[in-house]
Amino acid sequence: MFSKTSKIFVAGHRGLLGSAIMRRLESDGYGNIITRGRDELDLTDAASVDAFFKAERPEFVFLAAGRTGGIIANIAYPSSFLHENISIQDNIFEAAERHGVERLIFYGSSCMYPKSSPQPIPEDSLLTGPVEKTSEPYAVAKIAGVVACRSYNNQYKSRRFISLVPNSIYGQNDNFNLESSHVMAGLIRRFHEAKAEGASEIRLWGTGRPRREFLYADDAASASVFAMLNADMLENTHYNIGTGEDHSIADIASIIARIVGYDGVIVWNASKPDGALRKVLDSGRFSSIGWKPLVSLHDGIRTTYEWFLTSEYAKAHI
Ligand SMILES: NC(=O)c1ccc[n+]([C@@H]2O[C@H](COP(=O)([O-])OP(=O)(O)OC[C@H]3O[C@@H](n4cnc5c(N)ncnc54)[C@H](OP(=O)(O)O)[C@@H]3O)[C@@H](O)[C@H]2O)c1
Repeated sequence: MFSKTSKIFVAGHRGLLGSAIMRRLESDGYGNIITRGRDELDLTDAASVDAFFKAERPEFVFLAAGRTGGIIANIAYPSSFLHENISIQDNIFEAAERHGVERLIFYGSSCMYPKSSPQPIPEDSLLTGPVEKTSEPYAVAKIAGVVACRSYNNQYKSRRFISLVPNSIYGQNDNFNLESSHVMAGLIRRFHEAKAEGASEIRLWGTGRPRREFLYADDAASASVFAMLNADMLENTHYNIGTGEDHSIADIASIIARIVGYDGVIVWNASKPDGALRKVLDSGRFSSIGWKPLVSLHDGIRTTYEWFLTSEYAKAHI
C-alpha cells in the first residue's frame, strides 16, 4: 500500500512534472523518496536501470522522465524522441516487473490521440486513426507505453502499471528555451522579453483561434498521488487527466500580457499554421473516482511567471 514510509522512485525529479511530484510528496510527508539525476543514472541504459532497481528495490515509481519538447524540437529530433522515450520506458517497465515494484505510473500525452478524435477526447479514441505527423515519433512512443502498461498487467495478472494522460502541463521548472519549449512557457518568455524591451507590438504565430487545455503541474502531481492512493479503483486502461476547460490561444496570450504587465499590441501572423482547432481531454473517467484540479489558469500562470522571474534565465538576463 502507498504510505508515508513507502520507498518511492521519482524518475525525472528535476523536470516540470517530476519536480511538482517531489513538492507534493514532500509536503504530504512522504519521507522515503529516491532520485537519480541523468548524470548518475542514464535511464536509456538497460543494464544500469536494472542494476539500480535491483539494488534500491523501489516499491512505487513515478515515471516522469523522458524526451519532451514543442513542435520545433519534435521536427528537428524525431528519432531521438522515439528512441529515448521508448528506451526509458521499456527499461523501467522491465526492471519494475523483474524487481517487484508495487505500482508504477507512466505518463502518456494528448498527442497520442488521432487528429480526428471527437472533442473532448475520450480515452477510447486511442488507435482509431492517424496522429499529428509532426509529433508522430513521440506519439508512437507514448502509445507503446500505454499499451505496454496494459500488456504487463494482462500477462502477469497484476495491476502494477498505471497510465495517466495529461494534457499540456505548465508550471515551475518548465522549459523556457524558445527552440524547445511548449506553448505556455514560450508565450510567457516572449511577453516577458517584449515588456523588457519596451516593444510596442508582439508578433505571435497563427490566428490565436485554436483552443487548448492546460494543466498546472501541481495539479498533475496531485492526480498522480491520488492515482497511487486509489490504485485499487483503477481499471487496466489509461486515464485522461485535465481540467476539462479549453481556452483560445488569444485568451491565453491576453492573460499572460496582463500578468507580465505588457501593454503593447498583439499581432497574429495568420500565415503560420494553427494546428488542430481544438484539443481538450474528456477526463470524466478519472474525475468520477474523486480527483479534481484546484489551480485556476490565472493563478497557475501567475505562479509560473513568478517562478520564471527567479529562474536561471531571469538571473542571467534581468
Ligand atoms: N509537459 C507536458 O505538457 C506533458 C504532457 C503530457 C505528458 N507529459 C509526459 O510527462 C513526463 C514528464 O514531462 P516533463 O514535461 O516534466 O518533462 P521535462 O521537464 O522535460 O523533464 C524530463 C525529465 O526527464 C529526465 N530525463 C530525460 N532523459 C533522461 C535520461 N536518459 N536519463 C535520466 N533522466 C532523463 C530529465 O533529466 P534532466 O533534467 O537531467 O534533463 C528531466 O528531469 C514525460 O514522459 C512527458 O512525455 C508531459
